[in-house]
Amino acid sequence: MNKKFFKNLCALIILMPQVFICMAQKKTIEQKIDSVLKLMTLEENVGQMNQYNGDWEATGPITKDGDKQSQIRKGMLGSMLNVTGVDHTHELQEMAMQSRLKIPLLFGQDIIHGYRTIFPLPLAEAASWDMEAIESSARIAGIEAAAAGVHWTFAPMVDIARDPRWGRVMEGAGEDPYLGSLIAKARVKGFQGKGLGNTDALMACAKHFAAYGAAIGGRDYNSVDMSLQTLWNIYLPPFKAAADAGAATFMNSFNSLNGIPATGNAYLQRDILKGRWNFKGFVVSDWNSVGEMIPHGFAKDNYEAALKAANAGCDMDMESRSYIQNLVKLVKDGKVKMKLIDDAVKRILKKKFELGLFDDPFKFCNKVREKQQWDNKENLAIEKTMAEKSIVLLKNENQLLPLSKQTKKIALIGPFIKAVRDNLGFWSYQWPDDSSRIVTVWDGISKKINADTKLLYAKGCNINDSSTSGFAEAIETAKQADVVIINVGEASDMTGEAKSRSNIHLPGVQEELIKAIQSTGKPVVVMINAGRPLVFNWTADNVPAILYTWWLGTEAGDAIADVLFGDYNPSAKLPMSFPRSEGQIPIYYNYYNTGRPAKNDSDLNYVSAYIDLPNSPKFPFGYGLSYTNFSYSDIQLSTNSIKPNQKFTVSLTVTNTGKLDGKETVQLYIRDMVGSVVRPVKELKGFQQIFLKAGESKKVSFTISVNDLKFYNDKLEYIYEPGDFKIFIGSNSRDVKEAAFELLK
Ligand code: NOJ
Repeated sequence: MNKKFFKNLCALIILMPQVFICMAQKKTIEQKIDSVLKLMTLEENVGQMNQYNGDWEATGPITKDGDKQSQIRKGMLGSMLNVTGVDHTHELQEMAMQSRLKIPLLFGQDIIHGYRTIFPLPLAEAASWDMEAIESSARIAGIEAAAAGVHWTFAPMVDIARDPRWGRVMEGAGEDPYLGSLIAKARVKGFQGKGLGNTDALMACAKHFAAYGAAIGGRDYNSVDMSLQTLWNIYLPPFKAAADAGAATFMNSFNSLNGIPATGNAYLQRDILKGRWNFKGFVVSDWNSVGEMIPHGFAKDNYEAALKAANAGCDMDMESRSYIQNLVKLVKDGKVKMKLIDDAVKRILKKKFELGLFDDPFKFCNKVREKQQWDNKENLAIEKTMAEKSIVLLKNENQLLPLSKQTKKIALIGPFIKAVRDNLGFWSYQWPDDSSRIVTVWDGISKKINADTKLLYAKGCNINDSSTSGFAEAIETAKQADVVIINVGEASDMTGEAKSRSNIHLPGVQEELIKAIQSTGKPVVVMINAGRPLVFNWTADNVPAILYTWWLGTEAGDAIADVLFGDYNPSAKLPMSFPRSEGQIPIYYNYYNTGRPAKNDSDLNYVSAYIDLPNSPKFPFGYGLSYTNFSYSDIQLSTNSIKPNQKFTVSLTVTNTGKLDGKETVQLYIRDMVGSVVRPVKELKGFQQIFLKAGESKKVSFTISVNDLKFYNDKLEYIYEPGDFKIFIGSNSRDVKEAAFELLK
């Protein structure tokens, strides 16, 4: 080979790396990454670690404007968020193809509960306790978004939430680490489908790492202070589950944890995630969370913020521009090692390779697929089923529900009966033609009733003001009806990011409206829309029938109508405890017993209790009724003691004692009676969903091994300890049958 030929070949390789990579098809991804890495300048490396918001919709405060397009052309950008649609993503990817190395961009977006077809809020879906349904909801979101050019969703949010004042409880799976872990896994599997590389797979992003849900006072973005045992036993398990399920990426969080902002927290990102858990994906910061380490008082300027975040293991900087402006200098100054930059860039490039973007940067830009998914009716049907499974029946005195389709006059009252976009809830995209797809409560019920049933309507009041001027009309309307359905709640934008509330009662005069209607003596059904547990004691104590309807998505009205008229028998169970008052918060079922536990809700004899409020929640974790009733037999154990290498079976018989067929979620809780550290009074360790015909009985069995008894001790070792245990099985965390067993040495 002569020198000239060799020089030309090098130039070809440098100028046309796409060609080079294609030629190298047979190499492993690692080898391909190394070939690309070798061609990259330090500036281009840092560019890969840089992510900007697009111009479609901002989901945070825009930090600084800049010439994004020219930066893309210079290879100074690895990813954009909030860019969607085949045309738009194509346009930007073309710019990336004009860069020296033609490294494709990643397009990320918050696909939290659906893209085009909006599914129930994640918290509502969690109430279904149905992993298959949750996975298929995420699957459809993945299919629809990937068809619109998106590569990456910033979901699932797997933050444990024990404080309903925090507006983001709507985005997660509630308070329990076991249920939360199963749901984390289901959502990751759903988004990523058969795996990256398929044109319908989105990269998942487990967020917000970590402990973001424990913001002090439930105030969003607030600091978090917690013991490492609580972190490991309660807050980390869903993240571990997401990592084990193959989540492609993680997002760190805004909060500080025990004094160190999560974004600059090497213990979280390097030691736990990339170390102990051996996570191979990459970590993106939250929106400007690198820069926000300055107001946290953890970095004096962006130079120091970039230094701390990069060294702590944050691979990509979302919107703060700290990396693009400082990392090159930090490397040259010897403050950030090139090996860390290489590691971050390799992780990012690996995902681009796995997605297949190096082979075809426009792989997700397919107009036909986009069109097919834009109005996919099958997806709507699946959404309806998911919505039905999410509705929780909280009360049903004298079997007021289901309503007969023969009812002559039904009054529909309240500010949400005809609400349209509200049904989608926070974190949903407001497509211009969306309203035509959304089924309101009014529409859903109108479609369901017989021709000779008359629907009456009065709004009654607004969601959140003090005017009672609509009450008189609402009362008159109610008086004319055989049954009244009142739909109240919080506005859909009262939950979500930056939507913490100190008062979580029904807003405005809505509970006054319920009282006024109830005083007519007509049978009343209340439906509550919300993104969090609300406080509504008067309603809970006085109204005969209550459905918790969250925000149910595109098909909300149809799903609600099916439940109201008995075409779907409610089966959902609360994924969070519902407090009696804000004063009980944080409230959760898996608390420690204390040295002075109250014997019951009225025990005030120098015990751990409030003098003005019972300890128990208004509705416990795991609670939810059906139109039929289930009775539980006593528990039977295959043995009363096991050795650590043995397993045993606990079983009982559940009988449908009512007149309708129905689904029950049988829940198994365990208590470790004495430990080297105190252990919760109950921990969910299993559940089974069974369908029973009226009058039918089924034996339900759970197999227990030491794996169900493990926890992180004070040295953060994951262990079991021999001794006495209690087992509880029931239809929620409060109403349970009990048995005991011993784990021998
Ligand atoms: C901030 C939120 O905390 C995060 O969850 C979201 O993914 C980003 N903004 C991007 O919108």
